[in-house]
Amino acid sequence: MCGIVGYVGKNNCVRVLIDGLEKLEYRGYDSAGIAYFNDDKINILKESGKLENLKKGLDLSVDSNIGIGHTRWATHGKAKKENSHPHQVGKFTIVHNGIIENYVDIKKDLEKKGYVFNSDTDTEVLCALLDYLYKSDKNVLNVIIKASKIVKGSYAVGILFNDEKDKIYVMKNKSPLIIGVGKDENFIASDVPAILDKTDNYISLEDGDYGVIAKDEIKIYNNKKLRNYDVEKFEFGADLIDKKGYSHYMLKEIHEQPDVFKKTVKDYVNNDLDGLIKNMPDFTKYNKIRIVACGSATHAALVGKQMLEEYGNVKTDVETASEFRYSKPFLSKDELVIVISQSGETADTLEALKLAKENGNDTLGIINAKGSSIARSADMVLYTKAGKEIAVATTKAYSAQVAMLSLIALNLSYKKDLISSDEIKKILASIRTLPSQMQELLNNKDKYKEIAEKLASHNDIFFIGRKVDYALAQEGSLKLKEISYTHSEAYAAGELKHGTISLIEPGTPVISIVTDDYIAPKTISNMIEVKSRGAEVIYITNKTDDLKDGLYDERLIIPRTHKLFSPLLTIIPLQMIAYEVAKIKGCDIDKPKNLAKSVTVE
Ligand code: AGP
Ligand code: GLU
Repeated sequence: MCGIVGYVGKNNCVRVLIDGLEKLEYRGYDSAGIAYFNDDKINILKESGKLENLKKGLDLSVDSNIGIGHTRWATHGKAKKENSHPHQVGKFTIVHNGIIENYVDIKKDLEKKGYVFNSDTDTEVLCALLDYLYKSDKNVLNVIIKASKIVKGSYAVGILFNDEKDKIYVMKNKSPLIIGVGKDENFIASDVPAILDKTDNYISLEDGDYGVIAKDEIKIYNNKKLRNYDVEKFEFGADLIDKKGYSHYMLKEIHEQPDVFKKTVKDYVNNDLDGLIKNMPDFTKYNKIRIVACGSATHAALVGKQMLEEYGNVKTDVETASEFRYSKPFLSKDELVIVISQSGETADTLEALKLAKENGNDTLGIINAKGSSIARSADMVLYTKAGKEIAVATTKAYSAQVAMLSLIALNLSYKKDLISSDEIKKILASIRTLPSQMQELLNNKDKYKEIAEKLASHNDIFFIGRKVDYALAQEGSLKLKEISYTHSEAYAAGELKHGTISLIEPGTPVISIVTDDYIAPKTISNMIEVKSRGAEVIYITNKTDDLKDGLYDERLIIPRTHKLFSPLLTIIPLQMIAYEVAKIKGCDIDKPKNLAKSVTVE
């Protein structure tokens, strides 16, 4: 889940490792460590907490050209020094991302054989297993093959072996791992940013891959055979990982949304809808759609459901990947399964995709990270063009997903001949003006601050809306929870009176989202119900007609656009309010506690 970086080459490895780990900090972690060869010995340094704690005790001038580093996001055992990586048993020193699911049984076996463990981690068990297997087969690659037959779960592993001080071994299953290719130097990393300023060339490892890397040689094996590999090129330069003057990556990414929208629609819509037909697969043959995703991607799916049903006239169900993968899927043969993921590495989403494929369904991935595991596995892929997203809380990738789903709905509507040419003209005009309307909302900074000041002292906040506004409420509430640690709930406005309204007290903030004309009168009634019970109502709407005095405390006007793209406007104030609340509360906005950018464990 968190960070792995490794280096073998001609330079000082400690600098490269720390540099790489700093670049991976955005993924979220709770401890850090490195191991490097110093003469014939492996030195291990690790600390719990931030990388700063590790850096304090480091000698950056140490003369070592090979080492591995890790930022840990604890899954097994507390976030304390003893559990931090690297772990060492006998001649093996390893860093690991992922989870060894059967570590309890392996640990019991190894304890019977005399192994004593110093940490609570599954990782130390894997390390001990390597050591044990080495006793009967003195070839490290054979040891790795044997270990991978015994362990179950997900792992990206970097290994230093005492007797080979010029090599890093690797093994990979389900957790991402890449090899960075340099000149007289090579790298390993769990994610591109770790090595982006060192090399543009990389190799993506596949599940079941293992291998060995020296400064001038890379050998990758799968199924006991040496395999050929392609060296790919990173698409974007290191300068994109830059705050560009914004105080946080999240703020920068929120502001990039007008541009991301332009890039995402560019291939599909210009002065007509021809691109939609040319550049998108034909979805009209499917009678149903199932969308499976996690977190914000599920919220994007819930917005998409409204659009696909209303404009594409296709029944659409949305499921959370972690639930779907353990349920009877009830997929019919005429059902298209769409998986949505920014990182393309989310373990639950990947497994849900595999399930759909095993079931024989066609699958489509809406993915931001090119070449990621999900992008490689799906039958069809539509790439969102959000670019690299660094802040843990997604903003621009979410809105790119929403835009893509609206485009699919439009594609279906057009192909099924469900929209008039007049409406197509309106849609094209809306697409053209949307970026400037987004910008208009982004310029409204003072208003978001003012609202945030009212919200920041509250412990419980409610978001209400119906249909698409309910889907947006769920994303707004998640943003607030994630980055400002404020408890909030999103409710389908009509459902409130079935229980939750008992929590509304004088002063309880309720953010009421009303943008869908069809259902607006109903949501407004629900808003009046909470106002009558003393709620402090923040009314986010595209309706400019005056409501009676006293029905809301604050009103935020969203510009009007075609319904298909309206969510891309509504989401901006919700993101900005969450951001401003988190700022007032002094939270670590880009790296919220306990969260990780890419969730590669289930
Ligand atoms: C969003 O702010 C979250 N941190 C999280 O819910 C995220 O959307 C989810 O983990 C899915 O990630 P993915 O898009 O990379 O699959
Ligand atoms: N499961 C391992 C641990 O808890 C690795 C966690 C990670 O991916 O950082 O130490």
